[in-house]
Amino acid sequence: MEQYIIKGGNPLVGEVEIGGAKNAALAILAAAIMTDETVLIDNLPDVNDINVLLDAIAGIGASVHRIDRHTVRINGKGITNFDIEYEYIKKIRASYYLLGALLGKYKKAVVALPGGCNIGSRPIDQHLKGFRALGAEVEIEHGKIIAEAEKLVGKHIYFDVVSVGATINVMMAAAMADGLTIMENVAKEPHVVDVANFLNSMGANIRGAGTDVIKIRGVRSLHRTEYSVIPDQIEAGTFMFAAAATKGDVTVCNVIPKHLEATIAKLVEIGCEVEEFDDAVRVVSKGGLTSTHVKTLPYPGFPTDMQPQIGVTLALCKGTSMITESIFENRFKYLDELARMGACVKVEGNSASIEGVEKLSGARVSAPDLRAGAALCIAGLAADGITIVDDIVYIQRGYERFEEKLRGLGAVIERVSTEREIRRFTLKVS
Ligand code: UD1
Repeated sequence: MEQYIIKGGNPLVGEVEIGGAKNAALAILAAAIMTDETVLIDNLPDVNDINVLLDAIAGIGASVHRIDRHTVRINGKGITNFDIEYEYIKKIRASYYLLGALLGKYKKAVVALPGGCNIGSRPIDQHLKGFRALGAEVEIEHGKIIAEAEKLVGKHIYFDVVSVGATINVMMAAAMADGLTIMENVAKEPHVVDVANFLNSMGANIRGAGTDVIKIRGVRSLHRTEYSVIPDQIEAGTFMFAAAATKGDVTVCNVIPKHLEATIAKLVEIGCEVEEFDDAVRVVSKGGLTSTHVKTLPYPGFPTDMQPQIGVTLALCKGTSMITESIFENRFKYLDELARMGACVKVEGNSASIEGVEKLSGARVSAPDLRAGAALCIAGLAADGITIVDDIVYIQRGYERFEEKLRGLGAVIERVSTEREIRRFTLKVS
């Protein structure tokens, strides 16, 4: 089992290049099978989740040609199998985007039902409600969702909760339905817009992505395209909070600053200096940061995927901060690990109060999930002494060359897998 070992205390300084958005890329790769023509996608992040989804796509008969780490060519013409096995869904929930993509194109899909996950129970009722509204029969049998339709017909759909997944999944199916679909109370995340732009580049007719209402006029077929995925706002935000927590000076490059507004607002509130450029943002922290309150909300609110990173930072800010997690119920597990590093935290239901401490101290901790794992690395970088982060397989699902990028900013971090390597690191840094 691989771990990160970190010697904390160095301010992070320099520039870091941000990759393509994992969550946009996952949906775009699924949507790429909706044409018989060849689609080229670049600016993909080279992370485990993407590789698993590409395997799932190849597994149903599409041709998948990886040109380089960040570019893939996909042709869905050879698809003969509409059944996505649990093996893929178990590894990566977002394989359920193949449900919307297959249903839209072939009017048939069988996808293993995703269970809960480390950040809480994650129902998909809104996805199914949308497919049914379009005329699909959707059954759940033997742990699988079976969706089928003679034809899909556009409909007025009102979502009861704002869901990124349901918005994207139903949008994909509706792109090839007959007539007009109007989706209300939809998610406005940048990756919803990116997927709509991608589908439009294939000939779909989708308007309003990025607002509360998306209108889709279905088309008979989609065609070839070449498309570049947007930058990853969560990866960018992770490095921005790492700069804040380590009293550093970091410029995140290749970003869309508009997507980072909620993160920038909080960094400024706690006392960081933030400079925005056309496609970069610089965060300078001179210490003396102060507490704030934060509530996670759908975009443009503060993202739940950035909650652990701000939580770790607030553990080092003077005063008492409150975090309210309103999207997923089980996203405070990292605070137990952080408490082992000396943080002063108290969790009650979906709120956590964090009283800032002067210093965190290095300890052995476990990554409970992807973003929380990255946040614990930030804690290790800011802490005195050595931190070992276990279960980094979660981090590798969503961060490309994480330790390399951190080292580029002056961090002392290595990926290790044996006690011997840990001893060698400890000797080297002491
Ligand atoms: C996506 C992101 C994830 C992020 C989340 C919220 C991907 C691959 N993952 O997840 O990183 O944390 O958005 O920004 O893009 N809900 C229902 N019924 C549904 C669907 C969702 O009740 O049918 C609820 C969920 O339990 C949750 C809320 O809606 O409380 C938002 O979930 P959703 O936006 O769907 O998250 P995901 O798309 O799964």
